[in-house]
Amino acid sequence: MEQYIIRGGKPLVGEVVISGAKNAALGVVAAAIMSDEPVQLRNLPVISDIEILLRGIAALGAIVEKQGEHGTRVIGRPIHTCVADYDDLRKIRASYYLCGALLGKYKRAEVPLPGGCNIGSRPIDQHLKGFEALGAKVVIQHGKIIAEAERLIGAHIYFDCTSVGATINVMLAACMAEGQTVLENSAKEPHVVEVANFLNSMGAKIKGAGTDVIRITGVTSLHGSTYSIIPDQIEAGTFMMAAAATKGDVLIKNVIPKHLEAVTAKLVEIGAEVEEFDDSVRVVATKRLQHTNIKTLPYPGFPTDMQQVMATLLTVAEGTSIVTETIYENRFMYVDELTRMGAAVRVVEGNSAVVEGVDKLTGATVRALDLRCGAALIVAGLMADGITTVEQIEYVERGYEHFPQKLRELGAAIEKVDSDDQAAIHKFSYNVVG
Ligand code: EPU
Repeated sequence: MEQYIIRGGKPLVGEVVISGAKNAALGVVAAAIMSDEPVQLRNLPVISDIEILLRGIAALGAIVEKQGEHGTRVIGRPIHTCVADYDDLRKIRASYYLCGALLGKYKRAEVPLPGGCNIGSRPIDQHLKGFEALGAKVVIQHGKIIAEAERLIGAHIYFDCTSVGATINVMLAACMAEGQTVLENSAKEPHVVEVANFLNSMGAKIKGAGTDVIRITGVTSLHGSTYSIIPDQIEAGTFMMAAAATKGDVLIKNVIPKHLEAVTAKLVEIGAEVEEFDDSVRVVATKRLQHTNIKTLPYPGFPTDMQQVMATLLTVAEGTSIVTETIYENRFMYVDELTRMGAAVRVVEGNSAVVEGVDKLTGATVRALDLRCGAALIVAGLMADGITTVEQIEYVERGYEHFPQKLRELGAAIEKVDSDDQAAIHKFSYNVVG
């Protein structure tokens, strides 16, 4: 099994370039099959979730041609089935976007129920409610969502909760429905805006993405497009926090500072310096960070996807912090792993964690239990004394492009090794002593 080994205690210094946004790219790749004409996608992140989705659309019959490391050309015309049965699709959350895309274009979709990180119950009732409101008959059978309609007709849909996935999925279907659809209580995350912008670049008529009311006028076909994915705000936030955690000085390039406001505000509040430029941010920390309270909220609030990394920073901050998770019920599994490293964190009332700042973390063997847990443990390893081994790194590779390489370029001591390769592990550990 592959794992990361990290020798902590080195400040991160230098520049890092942020890759394309995972959660935007997943929506965009699914949307790309809705045109019969060629779609050129740029700045796709090199991560396993995107690889799986690309293989999934190729299995439907779409032409998928790699163009360099970050580019892909997709042609939806040869799609010959609406049954998405590429096995690995079950592993990723965003497989559900194929439901909206196929239903919108072909009025039929058969897609595996989504997988993704185990961070609590993740219902999809709002997606199904939206499809049904557009006139589709939807059933869950044999582990699949099966949706079909003779015609999709625009509708007025009020989401009962703010859901990124449901907003994007219903938007996909609605942009090829007949007439007007209004989505109320929509999610406002940058990836919702990005998928809407991409669909509009193919000729869709979507207005209001980024606000809680999205208005869509259906069209009968979508044309080709060339489109570059926005930078990943969570990857950027992770590097910002890693810089602050290691008392480093890092210029994080290719970001949209506006998307990072919640993270920037908290970092400044706990004592890091953040300088904003047009498309980069510099984070410098020179002294011990201070405690704060965090509450995750839909955008533009503090993102749930940054909760674990932020809490990790607070484990060594001065004083007691309270971290409250309002989006997912089970996003505190990483707490036990951090405890192995000497953190003093306890979960109270299910959705809050009390973090008592300790002087230091110490290296240990820990497991990445989900994607952001993995990122948090890597940041913990960078701060800790001694060697940290992070297992189950396939979770991390789902969402961070070349993470160890980017960290090494900033001066971190981190290697990806096979757990059977004792020689490599020994060599890395020996370097600590030597
Ligand atoms: N919800 C429902 N019913 C639904 C849909 C959602 O009750 O039909 C609830 C969920 O249980 C949750 C809340 O609404 O409590 C928000 O869920 P949302 O649908 O917004 O999440 P998602 O679309 O499944 C995406 C990202 C997540 C990110 C969340 C919140 C993708 C592929 N995933 O998930 O990303 O945490 O939005 O911003 O876009 C990650 O990248 O690590 C990750 C988990």
